[in-house]
Formats: sequence, structure tokens, C-alpha cells
Amino acid sequence: MQPPHTQRWDPAGYERNARFVSDLGTPVLELLAPRPGERILDLGCGDGALTERIAASGARATGVDASPEFIAAARARGLDAAVMDGRHLTFENAFDAVFSNAALHWMRDPDAVLAGVYRALVPGGRFVGEMGGHGNVAAIVVAVSAVLARRGLDAMQHSPWYFPTAQEYAAKLEAAGFGVDSIALHPRTTPLPTDMAGWLATFADSFFAPLTPQERALARDEVLALLRPVLCDSAGRWTADYVRLRFVGHRL
Ligand SMILES: C[S@@+](CC[C@H](N)C(=O)[O-])C[C@H]1O[C@@H](n2cnc3c(N)ncnc32)[C@H](O)[C@@H]1O
Repeated sequence: MQPPHTQRWDPAGYERNARFVSDLGTPVLELLAPRPGERILDLGCGDGALTERIAASGARATGVDASPEFIAAARARGLDAAVMDGRHLTFENAFDAVFSNAALHWMRDPDAVLAGVYRALVPGGRFVGEMGGHGNVAAIVVAVSAVLARRGLDAMQHSPWYFPTAQEYAAKLEAAGFGVDSIALHPRTTPLPTDMAGWLATFADSFFAPLTPQERALARDEVLALLRPVLCDSAGRWTADYVRLRFVGHRL
């Protein structure tokens, strides 16, 4: 089986550069509205920060993620968590709800993911999620593309992401057997707790995979130089141009 992605996740770097990802998951958790006793799967649970909040509601939370490092971190919180590729979920009629924050856009085969979520849910079970949507981190993608193009490389061939429109993802949900209760894009300019170098190191590794370590450092500096005028303010504070796709569906 192919590895799910070339992105390597480092829980310490994630804590430093990307804690905002789970912190900003609160509106999605509110949409999930977990109830005591419900069985809920957190798909792409990362280090389990949101799984822990689902469990705190009294629900029986299970986390799955492709990263063994993150699953170790989730288990260290005392959570029920397992290494599993979201494209090959093995659950059958096992959950009242599937939740996912900031993970589905990393799973490049959305139809396989949706088929597995459908099987994992009981009939009527809800699927509540947020992911990168169309136009997400567009400035960053353009800067990375320009820098790789200077080296004869097509960034899109190395992109780990899938950022659909609301219409496209709604059609996929319906084709997979879900009713769509709500789905919309939410532009969300996001202040970064560290800087763009930290963001690139945490999330954008796979774009630079074809380069040698020395070339990578140079390419990264070129990306930062292109982005500084548009995503860094005069006080040196960086933001990322996030656009999220948030949805609620249910298994028909
Ligand atoms: C940005 S993190 C979000 C983690 C967590 N949901 C949160 O809100 O902090 C994206 C997660 O998706 C996971 N992921 C990426 N591809 C995956 C796949 N094919 N199957 C399962 N998990 C995957 C990564 O390992 C990572 O933990």
C-alpha cells in the first residue's frame, strides 16, 4: 500500500506552530454537538486535542490518524486512538457520528474516504467536518509554485492537498449516500503563532521533497521573500490566507 502522504508530522512542531488548528475547531465541535453515550469517530484526529474535548462531553470518542507519532500523542492523553488510513477505514455501522477537523483535505482520494465514513456510520448517523476549501492558502500555493517553477518543477504534482468547492464536495457527499444539511466556504485569515517558516515546515514539506536539503533552504527563503509583502505586517506578524469548507451531512 502506498504511504498516505509524504508529509511527516512532528507533535512538538505542531504544538509550537499549529496549535491554532485545533483551537479554531470549536465551531465545528459546536456543530457536532456530541451527546453523552454517543459513539463518535474523530477522523484524522492528530494529537487528539479535539478528540479529548469530544470525550469530555460524555461521548465515547475514538480517534484514527495515519501518523503513528500523533496516535502516540493521542494515547498519551488517555484516548482510544488507532493508526488508520482514512482512505481505508475498517469500521462497519460502528458510530453515531463521524467528526473531522482540518484533515480531509490531506486525504487525496475523497471518494474512498467518503465510502469508508458511510460504512462506519449507522443509518442516520451524522458526518460533521471542516477542511481546507477552494482557495485555501492560495497566496502560499502561488508563491511555492513560482519558486518550484524556477527549478522546472510543477508544484501541483507535489501538492498533498485537495481543496474542493462547496458544490463539488456536496456532490461527492450525495454520490456517497449522504444527505447534505449544510455546506459553505468560510474565509478565515489566520494569525500564525510563530511565522511562515514554521508554517511551511509544519505543513508544506512535501512540495520541497524533490529538492536537496541545501536547495530546500534556498527555495524556502525565496517563498518567504515572495510572501512577506502580502502576509507579514509591518510589526513582523504573519498570517495565513485560510479558506475552510465546513459541512454537516448524515448517512441516508
Ligand atoms: C492539520 S492535522 C489536523 C489534526 C487534528 N484533527 C486537529 O484538529 O488538530 C491533519 C491530520 O490529518 C492526518 N492525515 C493526513 N492524511 C491522512 C490519511 N490518509 N488518513 C488518516 N489521517 C490522515 C494527519 O496525520 C494529521 O494528523
